[in-house]
Amino acid sequence: MLDARLSCCASFVRSGSLLADIGTDHAYLPIWLVQNKICRSVIAADLRQGPLDSAQKNILSAGLQQHITTRLSDGLTKIHPHEAEDIVIAGMGGHLIVSILEAAPWIKDPQKRLILQPMSDAPIVRRWLCENGFDILAERAVHCGKHLYGVMHAAYSATVLQPDEVFYRVGRMSDGGADEQAYIARELRRLQEKVEGLQKSKFAKQSTEDLQDMIRKIQTILQCMEEKV
Ligand SMILES: C[S@@+](CC[C@H](N)C(=O)[O-])C[C@H]1O[C@@H](n2cnc3c(N)ncnc32)[C@H](O)[C@@H]1O
Repeated sequence: MLDARLSCCASFVRSGSLLADIGTDHAYLPIWLVQNKICRSVIAADLRQGPLDSAQKNILSAGLQQHITTRLSDGLTKIHPHEAEDIVIAGMGGHLIVSILEAAPWIKDPQKRLILQPMSDAPIVRRWLCENGFDILAERAVHCGKHLYGVMHAAYSATVLQPDEVFYRVGRMSDGGADEQAYIARELRRLQEKVEGLQKSKFAKQSTEDLQDMIRKIQTILQCMEEKV
């Protein structure tokens, strides 16, 4: 059984796709995807040998060594373009995810899909995707334990988009359910705290006008979502 966070990542993987799970650690996601006949072949990659050993142990005990290959790889550097149609990068910080994507220009292929679950700095990931010709197709939010996570599904479209700052904050949380609302409400709180901090600080030179404008727009988005449910 996958937890809610990894289940949410799995929900974006296309049936029958070749998958690369970057930073696989325990390989729970590849094992579940093969057991459930969603993927026929997976590369479970990690930067460090320790996690790969634990992945290998789990793969062997599930009897899936014919379908899942472990590979020592810094990001996508040791993955060949023909080996991965869907690429999952989950459980890492947003800056690290961006540096992994940046180092693999071959992902700029409309046939491929990225499934990204940043633990922090999601706006940085969204900005990088938009500025580099990727379309964010959908996003979902999910509660897992006490934590709230967001997962993005993206594909290269060669069109460089310049959405406003609000989009980088809230993303494309399409279904508008309770977890998506909670995700957007959290972004709203973060911005409100930032404004309060700036207003209290004697040394702050930054005007809070732009931030307050963003807060108003996010409040409207949240209100529309609440009214739809
Ligand atoms: C917190 S675990 C996440 C495991 C799994 N993806 C998940 O979401 O449950 C992060 C994993 O990413 C690996 N990692 C960190 N930097 C990496 C890189 N540059 N390339 C590949 N793996 C990396 C770490 O070794 C670790 O096993």
